[in-house]
Amino acid sequence: MYTDQVMDHFYHPRNLGTIEHADAVGVAGNPKCGDIMQITLRVEDGIITDAKFKVFGCGAAVATSSMATELIKGRTVEQAFTLTNDQVAQALGGLPLHKMHCSVLAEQAIKAAIGDYYVRQGILSPDEVQVYDDPHGEDTPDEEV
Ligand code: FES
Repeated sequence: MYTDQVMDHFYHPRNLGTIEHADAVGVAGNPKCGDIMQITLRVEDGIITDAKFKVFGCGAAVATSSMATELIKGRTVEQAFTLTNDQVAQALGGLPLHKMHCSVLAEQAIKAAIGDYYVRQGILSPDEVQVYDDPHGEDTPDEEV
């Protein structure tokens, strides 16, 4: 069902953890399963020099996050923003169709982190950046009583 690359990144995830005093933080939630991912970035002169992730999710989410962080390290912020979940899945040799939604988490968390970076740099206002669903965060509206 899973490729060797997926299993390798699942058993030996790269870039697991959180960057202290990160230059950008992004969170995304998966509305299909309620899983959630956080990406932290170190950015120097517009280049992503480090990326780490934490995920509350399935094996496919772990593998795609691991690969996605590998793919964006050394790239410019603009290049990283164009990374798609299809590219991440391809780099892993493919994912089962019913697990493709898991790969969206990494793409969205990276985009959220880059949005945060642009806000911190004063390039965009908070209103101008896309907010992704965080099923466990402050953006989740409380149930009306
Ligand atoms: S089942 Fe939730 S991310 Fe895979």
